[in-house]
Amino acid sequence: MESVGQLTGGIAHDFNNLLAVVSGNLELIEDAADNGRVRQFAAAARRATDRGAKLTAQLLAFSRQRILNPKLVSANQLISEFQELIRQAVGGSCEVKLRTDDRLWLCRVDPPLLETALLNLALNGRDAMPDGGVLEIETRNVVLDEGAVAGPGSYVKLSVTDSGCGMPPEVRDRVFEPFFTTKEVGKGTGLGLSMVYGFVRQSGGHVAVESAPGAGTMVALYLPKATQRPDAEVEAIQTQAIPGGSERILVVEDNEDILEVTSAMLTTFGYRVLCARNGAEAIQMLESGQEFELLFSDIVMPNGMNGVELAREARRLSKGIKILLTSGYARDVLERHGAVDEFPIIDKPYRLADLARQLWSILHEA
Ligand SMILES: Nc1ncnc2c1ncn2[C@@H]1O[C@H](COP(=O)(O)OP(=O)(O)OP(=O)(O)O)[C@@H](O)[C@H]1O
Ligand SMILES: [Mg+2]
Repeated sequence: MESVGQLTGGIAHDFNNLLAVVSGNLELIEDAADNGRVRQFAAAARRATDRGAKLTAQLLAFSRQRILNPKLVSANQLISEFQELIRQAVGGSCEVKLRTDDRLWLCRVDPPLLETALLNLALNGRDAMPDGGVLEIETRNVVLDEGAVAGPGSYVKLSVTDSGCGMPPEVRDRVFEPFFTTKEVGKGTGLGLSMVYGFVRQSGGHVAVESAPGAGTMVALYLPKATQRPDAEVEAIQTQAIPGGSERILVVEDNEDILEVTSAMLTTFGYRVLCARNGAEAIQMLESGQEFELLFSDIVMPNGMNGVELAREARRLSKGIKILLTSGYARDVLERHGAVDEFPIIDKPYRLADLARQLWSILHEA
């Protein structure tokens, strides 16, 4: 599983870069097109790249290379807000029952990913009950001691149980493998439980599956109990309009295509953009006495300096320079570079509009 994860992560990462280029260029076409039909085609193509990005996101989740954005979460509240969607997804022939513990602990997870995981489990339950049945979602606190598979500790246990066909042991043993599916071609991609597995493991938890043919299935997520208090949370503020500016930005990216799209887009928004293809080139430009308000750099660059080192050097050379870093890699990779708390990061592939918003807010920070 480890090596499949690494391989998958590598492919997904390259694919992500490619999608960023395609989607960025389509956005530029949309903006530049005078012809309504051209705009419409470009928009349709961009929506397809969004779906592609969702797929690679699941693969990155499996390989635990996805950047998580964990928040303190009440699983009960998340489930109660999400239950309508689950009911719609499973359809009228399946009854959805909730059994939630009122005194449930909080856990610290990425909320949209927990929703996706729940939805994947509910859809599997639906598929296992073609003639209808009961899907039960239960939450409770559990304390595991030494010897438990999940490891000792306090967990929020979130389980999804169906009264469906169940699985024989040889299927149950393979359910987390990416692309493992028993469904017909076109029905399942075999990524649902892979995503659940990767997401829960990356969140420090554990997934258990209990199933037998004819006896239904229970999938339980053990999510570590959160230790922080709820008032520690700071939510980001989203503005609707896409703001621009006239500041000078140094963009550093080793991928020629991404560099081109990004700089074209930032120019469209009024920024004065200079490009560098690696750390050394960027340092040269910073040392040449040119003034930059902001450095926007990729973190993982081949040979030589990475984005974090570059950012630190840029701060030394040019006192007030603002920094934004970007990466398609996950938190653990970034942690190795020491980047997680030091500099703001935008995930790849980014929507150009999101990049513009983030740049604006960094440039206008006090
Ligand atoms: N609740 C369940 N009951 C019976 N079998 C299940 C259940 N959940 C998963 N499985 C088995 O595990 C396999 C893998 O599940 P997974 O969710 O990863 O992929 P999928 O449902 O086949 O496709 P996808 O979720 O990508 O659309 C399924 O094809 C099915 O054989
Ligand atoms: Mg599935």
